[in-house]
Amino acid sequence: MAKVALITGVTGQDGSYLAELLLEKSYTVHGLLRRASSFNTGRIEHLYQDPHEPNPRLYLHYADLTDGSRLVTLLEGIHPDEVYNLAAQSHVRVSFDEPEYTGMATGLGSTRLLEAIRMIGLDCRYYQASSSEMFGASTPPQNEQTPFWPRSPYGISKVYSYWMTRNYREAYGMFAVNGILFNHESPRRGLTFVTRKITRAVAEIAAGKRDALYLGNLDAVRDWGYAPEYVAGMWAMLQHTEPGDYVLATGTAYTIRDFLGFAFSHVGLDWEKYVRFDERYLRPAEVDSLIGDASRAASILGWTPKVMTPELARIMVEADCAAV
Ligand code: NAP
Ligand code: GDD
Repeated sequence: MAKVALITGVTGQDGSYLAELLLEKSYTVHGLLRRASSFNTGRIEHLYQDPHEPNPRLYLHYADLTDGSRLVTLLEGIHPDEVYNLAAQSHVRVSFDEPEYTGMATGLGSTRLLEAIRMIGLDCRYYQASSSEMFGASTPPQNEQTPFWPRSPYGISKVYSYWMTRNYREAYGMFAVNGILFNHESPRRGLTFVTRKITRAVAEIAAGKRDALYLGNLDAVRDWGYAPEYVAGMWAMLQHTEPGDYVLATGTAYTIRDFLGFAFSHVGLDWEKYVRFDERYLRPAEVDSLIGDASRAASILGWTPKVMTPELARIMVEADCAAV
């Protein structure tokens, strides 16, 4: 029997790559779709299957992580073998503007889902999209033993979801795991995250469509990997015999300045001529340095990343140049 998976956040960067991966592995995939007045399915357009066609394997359902009763009816109807909770208000800067909503979606959303699974007695495996933002101000390199010190409403909401996931594992014996993922990017990255904001600007500047890029703090250090490799790690966590928590990261460290250098040099431009400062992009509290140690995932799951940040910048610039 083909396995059945439910992905919340299927319309996001990771959800779209994960849906692709699971369809390749012959899963039937159900995705949760937020109702919006305009289409929000751009990242999964190429996977969409008309339900009138014979044997569709991708189904989309209207639901929202802030609506607990809907999650119950959805899970009861689908009976998935695996649930991947990727949905979240995922923007750190925005979480300072909307701390309450971020708590309701990014924090309590996981509880609604876990509780729905428990209430209907569903026997499934659960993946929680935890984040390196939970480490916040803790000194790098960070691994599964590093204390959490979140620095934003987003990071705090993720810490809450992390512990709820562990609690459902410990209290109810649920196969529930946390993937603690460091930053991962791709040509499908949202346009307001710094890497994609940069690569889109590079493409537009190279095409003569604009002449400036406004950014905030250029000194933060991040460990940027390639999103398709990270969703493979999510899947591997749910296939292991025992539930556990794993860091996924490249173990490399670059500043925003470094990324600017990689991205602009691909089109032969000097970033310092185009980048301007705008304080609107600063955060009330910053996470200065995230560098992950993924040795546990390497030794237990056999997961190792191949694409490092300079190559990632090339992939993203080329995709944006082609799109522009
Ligand atoms: P993303 O592109 O921002 O996608 C977020 C997804 O969540 C979208 O499908 C969005 O729907 C959905 N969503 C937001 N609020 C929702 C709500 N209230 N109810 C239902 N769905 C909702 O994020 P991503 O980069 O793919 O990341 C996936 C997950 O991993 C997130 O939980 C993120 O916090 C976490 N994470 C990401 C990274 C990273 O570097 N990318 C690292 C660590 C952890 P719409 O399309 O309708 O907006
Ligand atoms: N977004 C953004 N826009 N960030 C900027 C800008 C700008 O104009 N200028 C400088 N930055 C800096 C931010 O201050 C931060 O230090 C760094 O660039 C990265 O910002 P983002 O790309 O927004 O990502 P993030 O690290 O805050 O959060 C992402 O990674 C987390 C994992 O560590 C998100 O994907 C989170 O959802 C994820 O959990």
